[in-house]
Amino acid sequence: MEKKNFFESVYENADHDDLSSIPWATLAPNIYLEKHLAMQGPVVGKKALVIGCGLGDDALILEKYGYEVEALDISPSAIALAKKRHPESKVDFHVGDIYDMPASSVGKYDFVYEGLTIQSLPPSDREKLVGIIVSLVAKEGELFVYAHAQDDTDNYGGPPWPLYADEFTLFEKEGLEQVYIEKETESKPVAPYKCCALYRK
Ligand SMILES: C[S@@+](CC[C@H](N)C(=O)[O-])C[C@H]1O[C@@H](n2cnc3c(N)ncnc32)[C@H](O)[C@@H]1O
Repeated sequence: MEKKNFFESVYENADHDDLSSIPWATLAPNIYLEKHLAMQGPVVGKKALVIGCGLGDDALILEKYGYEVEALDISPSAIALAKKRHPESKVDFHVGDIYDMPASSVGKYDFVYEGLTIQSLPPSDREKLVGIIVSLVAKEGELFVYAHAQDDTDNYGGPPWPLYADEFTLFEKEGLEQVYIEKETESKPVAPYKCCALYRK
């Protein structure tokens, strides 16, 4: 019998009356993404993608700012919960695997948001994963990454596996320009920093 995906097990077994029991679930949009969108203001006619969307709050705020949003997650239970929590939303929530994106998604999105998914997947996949994610961003499009980060001298182990500074530079090696990176101390015990970075193609 095929082993159930770890994330699917977490969402499937979650207490539906208390979804905040899911370890990473805040039941609210990511505050750094929210800050970025508030600074940028509303948009018209732009497409966004949320990778590893979980319960859907980040997709919802992108929709609120005018994006036409697709949001994918490997876990069917997460997608079912996201749809149930946001019944009025027009976000296209669907099951999808970031390792297996359709050819039609290459260069499709004006804004890609990735929060806490890269660090949840094996560190040996980082370069490959960054390559896939960068390929999805449209010309002159943006990528917003939120992750835990650790210093070169740290070894927090995992999962999740916090990103090292040089792993944030992989996005530039794949052809993006870093617009800014912001590190905030005290996200222990996962890592010393919460980190967000904006890149542009
Ligand atoms: C740590 S959770 C973060 C969820 C959400 N982004 C958040 O910030 O609350 C990682 C998410 O990535 C999803 N995920 C894991 N592997 C994936 C894959 N190969 N493709 C798409 N989503 C994946 C999981 O199901 C989970 O929802």
